[in-house]
Amino acid sequence: MPKYKIAWLPGDGVGGEVLQAARIVLDRLGLDAEYLPGDIGWEFWRQEGDPLPGRTIELLKQVDAALFGAITSKPAREAAGELAPRLRDEGLVYRSPIVRLRQLFDLYVCLRPCRAFAGNPLNTREGIDLVIFRENTEDLYAGVEFHPVPQTLSRLLEEISPSFAPFKGLAPDQWAISCKINSRKGSERIIRAAFEFARQHRRRRVTVVHKANVVRATDGLFLEAARSIAADYPDIPWDHANVDAMAMWLLKNPLDYDVLVAPNLFGDIVSDLCAQMVGGLGFACSGNIGDRLAVFEPTHGSAPKYVGQSKVNPIATVLAAKMMLDYLSEDRKSQRLEEAVGQVIRDGRVRTYDMGGAGTTLQMAEAIAGKL
Ligand code: IPM
Ligand code: MG
Repeated sequence: MPKYKIAWLPGDGVGGEVLQAARIVLDRLGLDAEYLPGDIGWEFWRQEGDPLPGRTIELLKQVDAALFGAITSKPAREAAGELAPRLRDEGLVYRSPIVRLRQLFDLYVCLRPCRAFAGNPLNTREGIDLVIFRENTEDLYAGVEFHPVPQTLSRLLEEISPSFAPFKGLAPDQWAISCKINSRKGSERIIRAAFEFARQHRRRRVTVVHKANVVRATDGLFLEAARSIAADYPDIPWDHANVDAMAMWLLKNPLDYDVLVAPNLFGDIVSDLCAQMVGGLGFACSGNIGDRLAVFEPTHGSAPKYVGQSKVNPIATVLAAKMMLDYLSEDRKSQRLEEAVGQVIRDGRVRTYDMGGAGTTLQMAEAIAGKL
């Protein structure tokens, strides 16, 4: 029997192409795994009314890890319009399956390393090596939202919040509420994960990103959690900053930072900023990690306009596969893979369009496999 069971979730758009690329390098590495294909994506929304069918959830309960490609996401109304006619009157609401997976399996760590590979023409600066820990299950992604706003809720808010006055008397459809919900447990566990990583990998510092000067309840709690967790790690220097200032400093002095930890939405934004500094979406990989399952993915979307052209850069997905190897404690294979990616980038002979070349997705995968 193979050592690992890996759920194989191409999704749609270019998802299949980038996963095929990842498979080429995993096979070349000789990972002892059985790959179990799972249904996820836009087609299943249209045909079944659910982009994350129950059978895929069952599959994920039985695997060691999953590799996920990409999924098309559209705003709720547009999505409803694309449903098969027989499903149109059922009041189905589209929700991003990756966000659902994160919550369903409590994949509370979103790990996003952003490392500048030497010689990547897309680096804004050489030597950047940032690791973002993004809280992955709560915050503004909690999904507790109202539009129209029920009157019971507006009455209650009027009664208990002095800041409510400007919204008093609005008709229910004239405003909307999305709750930012952060728990102490949710905050502490992501911050602890960041400090643990820093200690294990001998990183220089942890920086906590927040907006506690304005969003005092939730981000205040996040910062308070950071203070109490940091006390358990006297060997790791740490600091904290407001997210807006961070955006400027990261761009200005990226080498001054190391491990970053943030609540969900700020982590989403800051990780895109950091990814762009080291090559953009073609290099951005991500791990959604819980205590029992981890799902690895390139951060990019399904790029419908490039489907079938073998055009997109598969490095993000290859690096996601590398993160999966780390998770499985296949350290030697992980290291070899990262070195191979580094060599191909340094050589510069095969470059995809985003890197200014004409290499295809498959050629890039073969080039990396060729270094293994
Ligand atoms: C990401 C993406 C997702 C998110 C989208 C596709 C729902 O931007 O993984 O960063 O917002 O988390
Ligand atoms: Mg994002």
